[in-house]
Amino acid sequence: MNTTSTLHSRSCLLLGDERSAVSSEVLELSADEQQQLVAGARDLAPVRGLTHGFYKYPARFSPAFARAAISAFTQPGDLVVDNHMGGGTTLVEALALGRRVIGVDISALAEFVATVKTTLLDEDDLERLSAWAARAAKCINIHKASAKLTDYAELGYYKHLDHASRWRIRKGIEQTLHSVQRVGCERLEAFGRCVILRTAQWALDGRKAPPTICEFRERLLYYAGKMIAGAREFSVAVRNCGGSSDLRILNRSAAGLEHEPLLRAAGVPRLVLTSPPYPGIHVLYHRWQVGGGRESPVPFIIANKLDGAGSSYYTMGDRNYPKLKTYFDKIRASMASVAAVADRRTVVVQMVAFSDPTWQLPRYLEAMEKAGFVEAYLRTLRSQGDGRLWRTVPGRRWYSDQRGETPGSQEVVLLHKKR
Ligand SMILES: C[S@@+](CC[C@H](N)C(=O)[O-])C[C@H]1O[C@@H](n2cnc3c(N)ncnc32)[C@H](O)[C@@H]1O
Repeated sequence: MNTTSTLHSRSCLLLGDERSAVSSEVLELSADEQQQLVAGARDLAPVRGLTHGFYKYPARFSPAFARAAISAFTQPGDLVVDNHMGGGTTLVEALALGRRVIGVDISALAEFVATVKTTLLDEDDLERLSAWAARAAKCINIHKASAKLTDYAELGYYKHLDHASRWRIRKGIEQTLHSVQRVGCERLEAFGRCVILRTAQWALDGRKAPPTICEFRERLLYYAGKMIAGAREFSVAVRNCGGSSDLRILNRSAAGLEHEPLLRAAGVPRLVLTSPPYPGIHVLYHRWQVGGGRESPVPFIIANKLDGAGSSYYTMGDRNYPKLKTYFDKIRASMASVAAVADRRTVVVQMVAFSDPTWQLPRYLEAMEKAGFVEAYLRTLRSQGDGRLWRTVPGRRWYSDQRGETPGSQEVVLLHKKR
């Protein structure tokens, strides 16, 4: 028996009685749609296509999963909401399928990435960006001075960047940022910043030793080319669905969302597709780990954004807090706001991982119930294991603090409808 099926039967043992006591629903989907959703959720192919490669957002979900869920539960023109949008996977797929979409995230970095990934650019824009990338690559020169961003330096955002092994990359970042500020148009500047962000992420995040400045320059050109092609593919896909993209991005907490006038004006979402921060699992959404584990806020400098707070701000509370009380309170608040804008036809689809599903999954389901939802199932999976859609991501390592028997490399797709 593999770990997944062990987990299934364990959850089943734990939840079997509860499940029969609590009401649940079976979602009416065709066999084909169910099969697509299962395949999408278990998709392990590298993330590619459209604008998905613009940034490696931590704990992002697969575009194939987002596409399958949007296709199964919505029609063109319907409203899709992602209340913890991260890097905007849901937004990109929803727009490429002709849906209206609203994305929400507490992180200004998520807002930046999701905005760039969903900006429509025309051929003239893309040509200007190509020309900028060539200029930016040429302007990288470690023998020339670079202008330090003094506001950010004073606020401590330069932490760990002046190290003997990293100052060259720091200079490359400053010089290319200086060059993109002269591109003369806000959305093209944002795109250029995102090219620098992706290149710097490759050069610094999770690396003990950074690459050479020549490699940095080559990568900048490589990512610029890939991203320009991705932006073209995205813009064509959106235009093929009818022209404009109907999109709103909000940088705020999901709790209290029902009071946002623009959400109320947009109507009732047919689908809420999201993955919230994971309980008990430490994911660094707002920092890169440079030089083998030192936390750096440099992505905020590149995005020209300010960081909100410490890591617990982005993860719904400190993972050391007993029984993750803050986490479950916040999930409940976030999902209660979703319930307030949903109706009986809205389907909520979430991808969640747990550091210890044996007690965290029931707590999560309890929070959903208290928020006003009832769990739903796919007919094809109803009789298998605990009836839920699990997926395993081999080789994935979460910093799992509350050590359970199961590694955080297992994720579950939870389906809910408003009670
Ligand atoms: C697992 S990530 C989402 C990844 C996303 N599905 C993707 O494909 O990129 C969870 C996100 O929830 C955000 N978040 C945390 N607390 C939040 C809150 N109270 N309201 C809205 N977003 C929040 C984090 O900033 C993070 O970006």
